[in-house]
Amino acid sequence: MSRENWSKDSWKSFPAQQQAEWPDQQKYDAILQQITALPPVVFAGEIRKLKKRLADAAKGEAFLLQGGDCAEEFSECTAPTIRETMKVILQMAVIMTYAGERPVIKMGRIAGQYAKPRSKPTEIQDGVELPSFRGDMVNAAGFTKEDREPDCQRLLTGYFHAASSLNILRAFTRGGYASLDKVHAWNKEFVKQSAQGKSYEQLAHEIEKALTFMKVIGFDPETVPQISEAQFFTSHEALLLGYEESLTRQDSLTGKWYDCSAHLVWIGDRTRQLDGAHVEFLRGVHNPIGMKIGPNHDMDEIKRIIQVLNPDNEWGRMVIITRFGKDKVDKHLPNLIRNFEKEGFHVLWSCDPMHGNTYTSESNFKTRNFNDILSEIRSFFEIHRAEGTVPGGIHFELTGKDVTECVGGAQEITDLQLQHNYATSCDPRLNAQQSLDLAFLIAEMLRK
Ligand code: PEP
Ligand code: CO
Repeated sequence: MSRENWSKDSWKSFPAQQQAEWPDQQKYDAILQQITALPPVVFAGEIRKLKKRLADAAKGEAFLLQGGDCAEEFSECTAPTIRETMKVILQMAVIMTYAGERPVIKMGRIAGQYAKPRSKPTEIQDGVELPSFRGDMVNAAGFTKEDREPDCQRLLTGYFHAASSLNILRAFTRGGYASLDKVHAWNKEFVKQSAQGKSYEQLAHEIEKALTFMKVIGFDPETVPQISEAQFFTSHEALLLGYEESLTRQDSLTGKWYDCSAHLVWIGDRTRQLDGAHVEFLRGVHNPIGMKIGPNHDMDEIKRIIQVLNPDNEWGRMVIITRFGKDKVDKHLPNLIRNFEKEGFHVLWSCDPMHGNTYTSESNFKTRNFNDILSEIRSFFEIHRAEGTVPGGIHFELTGKDVTECVGGAQEITDLQLQHNYATSCDPRLNAQQSLDLAFLIAEMLRK
């Protein structure tokens, strides 16, 4: 297929995986037209700023921290939920910034992560077969025929939820909630309460001293925006191409096209076909693009996708998010790195230690073990250091809430405790404590 002329709808002549089957085409078209006329969720200038910072991270001069729900839910689009997710990411970032001695780029899987790829198109419960749940932007999670029927009105509802989430995120990050001394005070509280607290005290104490020093020499939150404000970026999987297209806008300053549904969008492990619609769509937008790579990949195809998505080998354009699982990372990651190095690809390497480490517990919950997650992260750092490449980022499924979805961590959540507060509508997330535990452990790795 020819790749000569890109337009925001050129993806339509390519096969698209994981799309919903909207029952009412006319209504679907009308909804997308409505979104097309609405304001973008983010602006091109912000996207360009992010790309610059990701370029730094690719070179080892910054670090990317990306995290949030597997699938955001409309009913969870509330100020407390958004605040708690942002809060845990900010807390993790302070710890990692200090230990790694480089800025941490804070990015949520947030304000648009409403659509999910599924391994099977249908789900069977007690002998009844219904379409799979594909995220709140497509259908509902309940197990009735009505729930599972795709409803395109949900695309518009998704847009408004994304816009509303971003609005409160901007207010929190600019309005003083994200100020460094506040975030550090929360961390001190965590250290005091955590079972692992003692081993984190030293680092927390050092951060305290650095903050005091800054204050003494006159860096005041009132006068220095870097202390009182945080930059927070948004991201989601660019899955539903009609939705993404309707938010793709031409920047008036540069004439370039940007997918203004989020700052970064990624292409999932199930939709990154060289001749597929997702690659076609993403090659034409100038956002930074994430690409998930799991154990099932074809090296030649991956290399050609990178050439299609980043023909000018631009720094900050590609974020490669590897998700091999703790047992397979040793086999796949070095090979991938060596192939990329041979090609001279400029990419930011990030580690998703979640999606390759999912299993079903004896108590029948889809879960992940804290130690497996930690193990893949350690391997990621070790392998990159051995290969002489930069471990530049980390990608988590997490929440600021006190859920019990992943086993282990300092709280030692057991199989049997998963039922206490298992709240995810898709994959299991780290809770706030588990996330902070990991931040302190990653801090050690960044220090080495
Ligand atoms: C996800 O990030 O939720 C996801 C579906 O990941 P992957 O495409 O890597 O399986
Ligand atoms: Co997931």
